[in-house]
Amino acid sequence: MSGLLTVEGGTPLTGEITVRGAKNFVSKAMVASLLGEGPSELANVPVIRDVDVVADLLRLHGVTVDHDRDGGVLHLDPTDVESAHVADIDAYAGSSRIPILFCGPLLHRLGEAFIPDLGGCRIGDRPIDYHLDILRSFGAVVDKRAQGIHISAPRGLVGTKIELPYPSVGATEQTLLTAVRSRGLTELRNAAIEPEIEDLIAVLQKMGAIISVDTDRTIRIEGVERLGGYRHTALADRIEAGSWASAALATHGDVFVRGATQPEMMTFLNTFRKVGGAFDVRDDGIRFWHPGGDLHSIVLETDVHPGFMTDWQQPLVVALTQAKGLSIVHETVYENRFGFTDALRGMGATIQIYRECLGGLPCRFGQRNFYHSAVVSGPTPLRAADIEVPDLRGGFSHLIAALAAQGTSRVRGISIINRGYENFMGKLEALDAKVTMVDSAVAPAV
Ligand code: EPZ
Repeated sequence: MSGLLTVEGGTPLTGEITVRGAKNFVSKAMVASLLGEGPSELANVPVIRDVDVVADLLRLHGVTVDHDRDGGVLHLDPTDVESAHVADIDAYAGSSRIPILFCGPLLHRLGEAFIPDLGGCRIGDRPIDYHLDILRSFGAVVDKRAQGIHISAPRGLVGTKIELPYPSVGATEQTLLTAVRSRGLTELRNAAIEPEIEDLIAVLQKMGAIISVDTDRTIRIEGVERLGGYRHTALADRIEAGSWASAALATHGDVFVRGATQPEMMTFLNTFRKVGGAFDVRDDGIRFWHPGGDLHSIVLETDVHPGFMTDWQQPLVVALTQAKGLSIVHETVYENRFGFTDALRGMGATIQIYRECLGGLPCRFGQRNFYHSAVVSGPTPLRAADIEVPDLRGGFSHLIAALAAQGTSRVRGISIINRGYENFMGKLEALDAKVTMVDSAVAPAV
Protein backbone atom coordinates (compact mmCIF):
# COMPACT_ATOMS: atom_id res chain seq x y z
CA MET A 1 0.00 0.00 0.00
CA SER A 2 2.39 2.74 -1.11
CA GLY A 3 -0.62 4.78 -2.23
CA LEU A 4 -2.26 8.03 -2.01
CA LEU A 5 -5.02 8.69 0.47
CA THR A 6 -7.67 11.31 -0.11
CA VAL A 7 -9.07 12.75 3.11
CA GLU A 8 -12.25 14.79 3.18
CA GLY A 9 -11.90 16.83 6.34
CA GLY A 10 -14.36 18.42 8.72
CA THR A 11 -15.99 15.25 10.13
CA PRO A 12 -15.52 14.58 13.86
CA LEU A 13 -14.00 11.15 14.52
CA THR A 14 -16.57 9.15 16.50
CA GLY A 15 -16.75 5.53 17.55
CA GLU A 16 -14.52 2.81 18.94
CA ILE A 17 -11.16 1.36 17.96
CA THR A 18 -8.83 -1.17 19.64
CA VAL A 19 -5.13 -0.79 20.30
CA ARG A 20 -2.98 -3.88 20.83
CA GLY A 21 0.57 -4.32 22.11
CA ALA A 22 3.23 -1.61 22.09
CA LYS A 23 5.40 -1.51 18.96
CA ASN A 24 8.34 -0.32 21.07
CA PHE A 25 8.06 -3.32 23.41
CA VAL A 26 6.93 -6.17 21.11
CA SER A 27 9.94 -5.88 18.80
CA LYS A 28 12.34 -6.05 21.79
CA ALA A 29 10.51 -9.01 23.42
CA MET A 30 10.84 -10.84 20.10
CA VAL A 31 14.62 -10.27 20.17
CA ALA A 32 14.77 -11.39 23.82
CA SER A 33 13.43 -14.82 22.78
CA LEU A 34 16.86 -15.44 21.19
CA LEU A 35 18.33 -15.63 24.71
CA GLY A 36 16.12 -18.56 25.72
CA GLU A 37 16.90 -22.24 25.22
CA GLY A 38 13.18 -22.98 24.87
CA PRO A 39 10.24 -21.62 22.84
CA SER A 40 8.44 -18.40 23.80
CA GLU A 41 4.88 -17.13 23.29
CA LEU A 42 3.94 -13.46 23.05
CA ALA A 43 0.30 -12.35 23.05
CA ASN A 44 -1.44 -9.05 22.18
CA VAL A 45 0.88 -8.59 19.18
CA PRO A 46 -0.26 -6.01 16.59
CA VAL A 47 -0.07 -6.55 12.82
CA ILE A 48 2.43 -3.82 11.94
CA ARG A 49 5.42 -3.70 9.61
CA ASP A 50 7.97 -3.45 12.43
CA VAL A 51 6.81 -6.83 13.78
CA ASP A 52 7.12 -8.41 10.32
CA VAL A 53 10.64 -6.98 9.90
CA VAL A 54 11.81 -8.45 13.24
CA ALA A 55 10.10 -11.78 12.48
CA ASP A 56 12.01 -11.97 9.19
CA LEU A 57 15.30 -11.05 10.89
CA LEU A 58 14.73 -13.79 13.47
CA ARG A 59 13.94 -16.33 10.73
CA LEU A 60 17.15 -15.24 9.00
CA HIS A 61 18.95 -16.31 12.19
CA GLY A 62 17.28 -19.73 12.26
CA VAL A 63 14.44 -18.92 14.66
CA THR A 64 11.05 -20.52 13.91
CA VAL A 65 8.41 -17.78 14.02
CA ASP A 66 4.66 -18.45 13.75
CA HIS A 67 2.44 -15.37 13.79
CA ASP A 68 -1.28 -15.87 14.36
CA ARG A 69 -2.15 -12.40 13.03
CA ASP A 70 -5.85 -12.39 13.95
CA GLY A 71 -5.27 -13.87 17.39
CA GLY A 72 -2.31 -11.56 17.95
CA VAL A 73 -0.03 -14.37 19.14
CA LEU A 74 3.60 -15.04 18.21
CA HIS A 75 5.31 -18.39 18.75
CA LEU A 76 9.11 -18.08 18.70
CA ASP A 77 11.50 -21.05 18.85
CA PRO A 78 15.24 -20.17 18.94
CA THR A 79 16.51 -23.75 19.30
CA ASP A 80 18.34 -23.71 15.94
CA VAL A 81 19.84 -20.21 16.07
CA GLU A 82 22.53 -19.59 13.41
CA SER A 83 24.48 -16.60 12.15
CA ALA A 84 23.32 -14.66 9.09
CA HIS A 85 25.15 -12.73 6.37
CA VAL A 86 25.38 -8.98 6.96
CA ALA A 87 24.07 -8.26 3.44
CA ASP A 88 20.91 -10.26 4.23
CA ILE A 89 20.54 -8.56 7.61
CA ASP A 90 20.87 -5.20 5.86
CA ALA A 91 18.33 -6.16 3.22
CA TYR A 92 15.76 -7.41 5.75
CA ALA A 93 16.27 -4.61 8.25
CA GLY A 94 15.70 -1.78 5.77
CA SER A 95 15.39 1.41 7.85
CA SER A 96 14.69 -0.45 11.10
CA ARG A 97 17.20 0.12 13.90
CA ILE A 98 16.35 -3.18 15.61
CA PRO A 99 19.45 -5.17 14.41
CA ILE A 100 21.56 -3.36 16.99
CA LEU A 101 19.62 -5.08 19.80
CA PHE A 102 20.39 -8.53 18.37
CA CYS A 103 24.04 -8.07 19.46
CA GLY A 104 23.88 -9.21 23.09
CA PRO A 105 21.72 -12.31 22.46
CA LEU A 106 23.74 -13.37 19.38
CA LEU A 107 27.05 -12.85 21.19
CA HIS A 108 25.78 -15.19 23.93
CA ARG A 109 24.39 -17.76 21.46
CA LEU A 110 26.94 -17.58 18.63
CA GLY A 111 29.90 -15.53 19.88
CA GLU A 112 29.46 -12.93 17.14
CA ALA A 113 27.00 -10.51 15.59
CA PHE A 114 26.79 -8.09 12.65
CA ILE A 115 25.13 -4.66 12.55
CA PRO A 116 24.50 -3.12 9.13
CA ASP A 117 24.93 0.67 8.82
CA LEU A 118 21.80 1.99 10.59
CA GLY A 119 22.04 5.68 9.75
CA GLY A 120 19.73 8.32 11.10
CA CYS A 121 16.14 9.34 10.27
CA ARG A 122 14.17 12.55 9.86
CA ILE A 123 13.81 13.16 13.59
CA GLY A 124 17.51 13.12 14.47
CA ASP A 125 21.01 11.73 13.83
CA ARG A 126 20.24 8.72 16.06
CA PRO A 127 23.89 7.81 16.84
CA ILE A 128 24.70 4.37 18.36
CA ASP A 129 27.76 5.41 20.37
CA TYR A 130 26.18 4.42 23.71
CA HIS A 131 25.40 0.93 22.33
CA LEU A 132 28.97 0.32 21.12
CA ASP A 133 30.47 1.63 24.37
CA ILE A 134 28.18 -0.66 26.35
CA LEU A 135 29.13 -3.75 24.31
CA ARG A 136 32.83 -2.90 24.68
CA SER A 137 32.40 -2.52 28.46
CA PHE A 138 31.10 -6.12 28.62
CA GLY A 139 34.32 -7.19 26.86
CA ALA A 140 33.02 -7.37 23.28
CA VAL A 141 35.32 -6.47 20.38
CA VAL A 142 33.74 -3.91 18.02
CA ASP A 143 35.20 -3.99 14.50
CA LYS A 144 33.92 -1.41 12.00
CA ARG A 145 33.99 -2.85 8.43
CA ALA A 146 32.82 -1.63 5.03
CA GLN A 147 29.49 -3.51 5.21
CA GLY A 148 28.78 -2.76 8.83
CA ILE A 149 30.01 -3.49 12.31
CA HIS A 150 31.26 -6.94 13.35
CA ILE A 151 31.02 -7.67 17.06
CA SER A 152 32.67 -10.65 18.77
CA ALA A 153 33.30 -11.84 22.31
CA PRO A 154 36.43 -14.02 22.22
CA ARG A 155 36.61 -14.24 26.05
CA GLY A 156 32.84 -14.19 26.66
CA LEU A 157 30.93 -11.32 28.24
CA VAL A 158 31.48 -10.12 31.81
CA GLY A 159 29.19 -7.98 33.99
CA THR A 160 30.22 -4.31 34.31
CA LYS A 161 29.31 -0.83 35.63
CA ILE A 162 27.69 1.59 33.19
CA GLU A 163 26.48 5.18 33.65
CA LEU A 164 24.48 6.43 30.66
CA PRO A 165 25.10 10.06 29.60
CA TYR A 166 21.35 10.22 28.85
CA PRO A 167 18.57 7.75 29.87
CA SER A 168 18.40 6.20 26.39
CA VAL A 169 15.71 3.53 25.85
CA GLY A 170 17.78 1.64 23.29
CA ALA A 171 20.97 1.71 25.37
CA THR A 172 19.11 0.44 28.43
CA GLU A 173 17.63 -2.41 26.36
CA GLN A 174 21.11 -3.17 24.98
CA THR A 175 22.44 -3.47 28.51
CA LEU A 176 19.56 -5.66 29.70
CA LEU A 177 19.76 -8.04 26.72
CA THR A 178 23.55 -8.37 27.15
CA ALA A 179 23.85 -8.47 30.95
CA VAL A 180 21.27 -11.18 31.74
CA ARG A 181 23.60 -14.00 30.59
CA SER A 182 26.96 -12.27 31.19
CA ARG A 183 29.20 -13.53 34.01
CA GLY A 184 28.71 -11.60 37.25
CA LEU A 185 26.93 -8.40 38.24
CA THR A 186 26.04 -5.44 36.00
CA GLU A 187 25.05 -2.05 37.38
CA LEU A 188 23.39 0.42 35.00
CA ARG A 189 23.00 3.99 36.24
CA ASN A 190 20.83 6.73 34.67
CA ALA A 191 18.77 4.05 32.96
CA ALA A 192 15.55 4.52 31.00
CA ILE A 193 12.52 3.33 33.00
CA GLU A 194 9.81 3.57 30.34
CA PRO A 195 6.84 1.16 30.77
CA GLU A 196 8.12 -0.70 27.71
CA ILE A 197 11.45 -1.23 29.55
CA GLU A 198 9.62 -2.49 32.63
CA ASP A 199 7.68 -4.95 30.49
CA LEU A 200 10.94 -6.17 28.89
CA ILE A 201 12.36 -6.70 32.39
CA ALA A 202 9.22 -8.71 33.24
CA VAL A 203 9.81 -10.92 30.18
CA LEU A 204 13.49 -11.48 31.05
CA GLN A 205 12.56 -12.34 34.64
CA LYS A 206 10.05 -14.90 33.32
CA MET A 207 12.93 -16.41 31.33
CA GLY A 208 14.99 -16.81 34.51
CA ALA A 209 16.88 -13.53 34.80
CA ILE A 210 17.66 -11.68 38.07
CA ILE A 211 17.02 -7.94 37.65
CA SER A 212 16.30 -5.21 40.20
CA VAL A 213 15.24 -1.61 39.52
CA ASP A 214 15.97 1.07 42.13
CA THR A 215 14.10 4.33 42.43
CA ASP A 216 17.18 6.34 41.28
CA ARG A 217 17.21 4.93 37.70
CA THR A 218 19.74 2.26 38.72
CA ILE A 219 19.17 -1.23 37.33
CA ARG A 220 21.20 -4.19 38.68
CA ILE A 221 21.43 -7.48 36.79
CA GLU A 222 22.98 -10.70 38.14
CA GLY A 223 24.04 -12.73 35.14
CA VAL A 224 22.81 -16.34 34.88
CA GLU A 225 24.13 -19.14 32.69
CA ARG A 226 20.90 -20.29 31.11
CA LEU A 227 17.48 -18.78 30.31
CA GLY A 228 14.28 -20.51 29.25
CA GLY A 229 11.41 -19.29 27.09
CA TYR A 230 8.56 -17.02 28.24
CA ARG A 231 4.79 -16.61 27.94
CA HIS A 232 3.77 -12.94 28.06
CA THR A 233 1.04 -10.53 27.07
CA ALA A 234 2.34 -7.22 25.71
CA LEU A 235 1.36 -3.93 27.38
CA ALA A 236 -0.89 -1.67 25.33
CA ASP A 237 0.58 0.79 22.82
CA ARG A 238 0.32 4.11 24.69
CA ILE A 239 1.74 6.02 21.71
CA GLU A 240 -1.03 4.77 19.40
CA ALA A 241 -3.65 5.43 22.10
CA GLY A 242 -2.36 9.00 22.57
CA SER A 243 -2.36 9.54 18.80
CA TRP A 244 -6.06 8.65 18.48
CA ALA A 245 -6.85 10.80 21.55
CA SER A 246 -5.21 13.81 19.86
CA ALA A 247 -7.15 12.99 16.68
CA ALA A 248 -10.41 13.05 18.66
CA LEU A 249 -9.51 16.44 20.12
CA ALA A 250 -8.43 18.04 16.83
CA THR A 251 -11.57 16.87 15.01
CA HIS A 252 -14.06 17.68 17.81
CA GLY A 253 -14.61 13.93 18.04
CA ASP A 254 -15.38 11.23 20.59
CA VAL A 255 -13.31 8.04 20.45
CA PHE A 256 -13.27 5.02 22.78
CA VAL A 257 -9.81 3.40 22.63
CA ARG A 258 -10.33 -0.19 23.73
CA GLY A 259 -7.19 -1.63 25.31
CA ALA A 260 -5.70 1.73 26.37
CA THR A 261 -4.50 1.74 29.99
CA GLN A 262 -4.18 4.60 32.48
CA PRO A 263 -0.94 3.84 34.45
CA GLU A 264 1.25 4.14 31.33
CA MET A 265 -0.55 7.32 30.17
CA MET A 266 -0.74 9.40 33.38
CA THR A 267 1.35 12.27 31.97
CA PHE A 268 -0.52 12.28 28.67
CA LEU A 269 -3.91 12.32 30.45
CA ASN A 270 -2.87 15.29 32.61
CA THR A 271 -1.79 17.23 29.52
CA PHE A 272 -4.91 16.21 27.57
CA ARG A 273 -7.06 17.59 30.39
CA LYS A 274 -5.01 20.82 30.62
CA VAL A 275 -5.59 21.43 26.88
CA GLY A 276 -9.32 21.05 27.51
CA GLY A 277 -9.90 17.45 26.40
CA ALA A 278 -12.14 15.12 28.36
CA PHE A 279 -11.52 11.44 29.08
CA ASP A 280 -13.10 8.58 30.96
CA VAL A 281 -10.99 5.66 32.16
CA ARG A 282 -12.77 2.29 32.03
CA ASP A 283 -11.56 -1.24 32.81
CA ASP A 284 -11.41 -2.09 29.12
CA GLY A 285 -10.09 1.17 27.70
CA ILE A 286 -10.23 4.96 27.73
CA ARG A 287 -12.78 7.25 26.07
CA PHE A 288 -11.39 10.55 24.73
CA TRP A 289 -13.60 13.41 23.53
CA HIS A 290 -13.80 17.12 22.81
CA PRO A 291 -16.27 18.50 25.35
CA GLY A 292 -17.02 21.60 23.26
CA GLY A 293 -15.86 25.13 24.00
CA ASP A 294 -12.33 26.46 23.54
CA LEU A 295 -9.15 24.43 23.84
CA HIS A 296 -6.45 26.01 26.00
CA SER A 297 -2.87 26.77 24.98
CA ILE A 298 -0.19 25.14 27.16
CA VAL A 299 3.56 25.03 27.79
CA LEU A 300 4.78 21.50 27.05
CA GLU A 301 8.19 19.89 27.39
CA THR A 302 8.90 16.40 26.15
CA ASP A 303 11.14 14.19 28.30
CA VAL A 304 12.03 10.64 29.21
CA HIS A 305 9.52 8.69 31.34
CA PRO A 306 7.66 9.72 33.46
CA GLY A 307 7.80 12.95 31.45
CA PHE A 308 5.67 13.69 28.34
CA MET A 309 6.74 11.25 25.64
CA THR A 310 8.36 12.68 22.51
CA ASP A 311 6.16 10.36 20.37
CA TRP A 312 2.98 11.98 21.74
CA GLN A 313 4.28 15.43 20.72
CA GLN A 314 3.57 15.51 16.98
CA PRO A 315 -0.10 14.38 17.09
CA LEU A 316 -0.85 16.73 20.01
CA VAL A 317 0.69 19.74 18.21
CA VAL A 318 -2.08 19.42 15.60
CA ALA A 319 -4.69 19.78 18.37
CA LEU A 320 -2.74 22.76 19.76
CA THR A 321 -3.24 24.59 16.42
CA GLN A 322 -6.92 24.64 17.46
CA ALA A 323 -6.25 25.94 21.00
CA LYS A 324 -6.80 29.55 22.01
CA GLY A 325 -3.52 31.44 22.57
CA LEU A 326 0.19 30.67 22.32
CA SER A 327 1.39 27.14 23.11
CA ILE A 328 5.09 26.47 23.63
CA VAL A 329 6.56 23.01 22.91
CA HIS A 330 10.15 22.20 23.94
CA GLU A 331 11.34 18.94 22.37
CA THR A 332 14.24 17.61 24.50
CA VAL A 333 14.55 13.99 23.27
CA TYR A 334 15.22 14.45 19.53
CA GLU A 335 17.01 17.41 18.00
CA ASN A 336 15.01 17.56 14.77
CA ARG A 337 11.37 16.63 15.45
CA PHE A 338 9.52 19.67 14.08
CA GLY A 339 10.03 18.98 10.37
CA PHE A 340 6.39 17.88 10.17
CA THR A 341 5.25 21.46 10.97
CA ASP A 342 6.16 22.59 7.43
CA ALA A 343 3.07 20.88 6.05
CA LEU A 344 0.92 22.21 8.90
CA ARG A 345 2.00 25.77 8.07
CA GLY A 346 1.02 25.01 4.46
CA MET A 347 -2.45 24.14 5.76
CA GLY A 348 -2.80 27.50 7.53
CA ALA A 349 -1.35 26.75 10.99
CA THR A 350 0.74 29.42 12.72
CA ILE A 351 3.82 27.63 14.07
CA GLN A 352 7.24 29.21 14.62
CA ILE A 353 10.24 27.04 15.47
CA TYR A 354 13.31 28.13 17.46
CA ARG A 355 16.80 26.92 18.42
CA GLU A 356 16.36 28.17 21.99
CA CYS A 357 15.15 25.98 24.86
CA LEU A 358 11.75 27.64 25.23
CA GLY A 359 9.38 27.13 28.14
CA GLY A 360 11.47 24.66 30.09
CA LEU A 361 14.86 23.62 31.39
CA PRO A 362 17.93 23.98 29.14
CA CYS A 363 18.44 20.68 27.31
CA ARG A 364 21.22 18.89 25.33
CA PHE A 365 20.23 20.80 22.19
CA GLY A 366 20.34 24.31 23.64
CA GLN A 367 22.74 26.90 22.07
CA ARG A 368 23.28 24.57 19.13
CA ASN A 369 21.87 24.64 15.63
CA PHE A 370 18.78 22.55 16.35
CA TYR A 371 15.27 23.93 15.88
CA HIS A 372 13.81 22.03 18.84
CA SER A 373 11.26 24.45 20.28
CA ALA A 374 7.98 25.56 18.70
CA VAL A 375 5.45 28.29 19.39
CA VAL A 376 1.94 27.42 18.16
CA SER A 377 -0.59 30.23 17.88
CA GLY A 378 -4.28 29.37 17.63
CA PRO A 379 -6.96 28.73 16.92
CA THR A 380 -6.32 28.72 13.15
CA PRO A 381 -8.69 26.99 10.74
CA LEU A 382 -6.84 24.35 8.72
CA ARG A 383 -7.40 24.03 4.98
CA ALA A 384 -6.87 20.95 2.83
CA ALA A 385 -3.51 20.40 1.10
CA ASP A 386 -1.34 17.89 -0.75
CA ILE A 387 0.95 16.23 1.80
CA GLU A 388 3.95 13.86 1.70
CA VAL A 389 4.31 11.71 4.83
CA PRO A 390 7.77 12.46 6.42
CA ASP A 391 8.03 9.83 9.20
CA LEU A 392 5.81 7.60 11.32
CA ARG A 393 4.49 10.04 13.95
CA GLY A 394 4.75 13.06 11.62
CA GLY A 395 2.68 11.11 9.10
CA PHE A 396 -0.05 10.31 11.60
CA SER A 397 -0.19 13.96 12.67
CA HIS A 398 -0.63 14.97 9.03
CA LEU A 399 -3.54 12.57 8.81
CA ILE A 400 -5.10 14.26 11.85
CA ALA A 401 -4.59 17.69 10.27
CA ALA A 402 -6.24 16.55 7.04
CA LEU A 403 -9.19 15.14 9.04
CA ALA A 404 -9.55 18.48 10.90
CA ALA A 405 -9.14 20.64 7.79
CA GLN A 406 -11.81 22.05 5.50
CA GLY A 407 -11.73 20.44 2.04
CA THR A 408 -10.14 17.34 0.58
CA SER A 409 -6.43 16.64 1.16
CA ARG A 410 -4.25 14.17 -0.72
CA VAL A 411 -1.73 12.34 1.49
CA ARG A 412 1.09 10.40 -0.24
CA GLY A 413 3.56 7.90 1.21
CA ILE A 414 0.89 6.65 3.58
CA SER A 415 2.54 3.20 3.89
CA ILE A 416 5.05 4.54 6.43
CA ILE A 417 2.17 4.68 8.90
CA ASN A 418 1.79 0.92 8.65
CA ARG A 419 5.11 0.61 10.44
CA GLY A 420 3.53 1.50 13.77
CA TYR A 421 -0.25 1.86 13.46
CA GLU A 422 -2.16 -1.41 13.07
CA ASN A 423 -4.99 -1.36 10.48
CA PHE A 424 -5.19 2.43 10.54
CA MET A 425 -7.37 2.52 7.42
CA GLY A 426 -9.92 0.17 9.02
CA LYS A 427 -9.86 2.28 12.19
CA LEU A 428 -10.40 5.52 10.25
CA GLU A 429 -13.42 3.96 8.54
CA ALA A 430 -14.71 2.68 11.91
CA LEU A 431 -14.53 6.29 13.15
CA ASP A 432 -16.56 7.63 10.19
CA ALA A 433 -13.60 9.35 8.58
CA LYS A 434 -14.16 10.17 4.92
CA VAL A 435 -11.00 8.61 3.48
CA THR A 436 -10.32 6.86 0.19
CA MET A 437 -7.18 4.95 -0.72
CA VAL A 438 -6.26 5.74 -4.35
CA ASP A 439 -3.97 3.21 -6.03
CA SER A 440 -0.63 5.00 -6.64
CA ALA A 441 -0.53 3.62 -10.18
CA VAL A 442 -3.47 5.82 -11.27
CA ALA A 443 -3.03 8.69 -8.80
CA PRO A 444 -2.02 12.00 -10.42
CA ALA A 445 1.28 13.41 -9.04
CA VAL A 446 0.96 15.50 -5.80
C1 EPZ B 1 13.02 4.43 21.27
O1 EPZ B 1 14.02 4.86 20.35
C2 EPZ B 1 11.73 4.36 20.44
N1 EPZ B 1 11.92 3.46 19.33
C3 EPZ B 1 11.38 5.75 19.91
O2 EPZ B 1 10.11 5.69 19.24
C4 EPZ B 1 11.21 6.70 21.08
O3 EPZ B 1 10.98 8.00 20.58
C5 EPZ B 1 12.51 6.71 21.93
O4 EPZ B 1 12.84 5.37 22.35
C6 EPZ B 1 12.38 7.58 23.16
O5 EPZ B 1 11.34 7.15 23.96
C7 EPZ B 1 11.83 2.14 19.54
O6 EPZ B 1 11.65 1.66 20.65
C8 EPZ B 1 11.99 1.25 18.35
P1 EPZ B 1 16.77 6.54 22.66
P2 EPZ B 1 15.57 4.78 20.73
O7 EPZ B 1 17.94 5.65 22.58
O8 EPZ B 1 15.79 3.62 21.62
C9 EPZ B 1 20.32 9.68 21.88
C10 EPZ B 1 8.63 5.81 17.41
O9 EPZ B 1 8.16 6.68 16.66
N2 EPZ B 1 21.25 8.53 21.77
O10 EPZ B 1 16.06 6.65 23.97
O11 EPZ B 1 16.35 4.90 19.49
C11 EPZ B 1 19.38 9.76 20.67
O12 EPZ B 1 19.99 10.36 19.59
C12 EPZ B 1 10.11 5.89 17.83
O13 EPZ B 1 8.00 4.84 17.84
C13 EPZ B 1 22.61 8.80 21.58
O14 EPZ B 1 23.02 9.96 21.51
O15 EPZ B 1 15.70 6.15 21.56
C14 EPZ B 1 18.21 10.56 21.19
O16 EPZ B 1 18.48 11.93 21.13
C15 EPZ B 1 10.76 7.16 17.37
N3 EPZ B 1 23.45 7.74 21.43
C16 EPZ B 1 18.15 10.09 22.63
O17 EPZ B 1 19.41 9.50 22.96
C17 EPZ B 1 23.00 6.43 21.49
O18 EPZ B 1 23.82 5.50 21.34
C18 EPZ B 1 17.01 9.11 22.90
O19 EPZ B 1 17.20 7.99 22.13
C19 EPZ B 1 21.64 6.19 21.70
C20 EPZ B 1 20.76 7.25 21.84
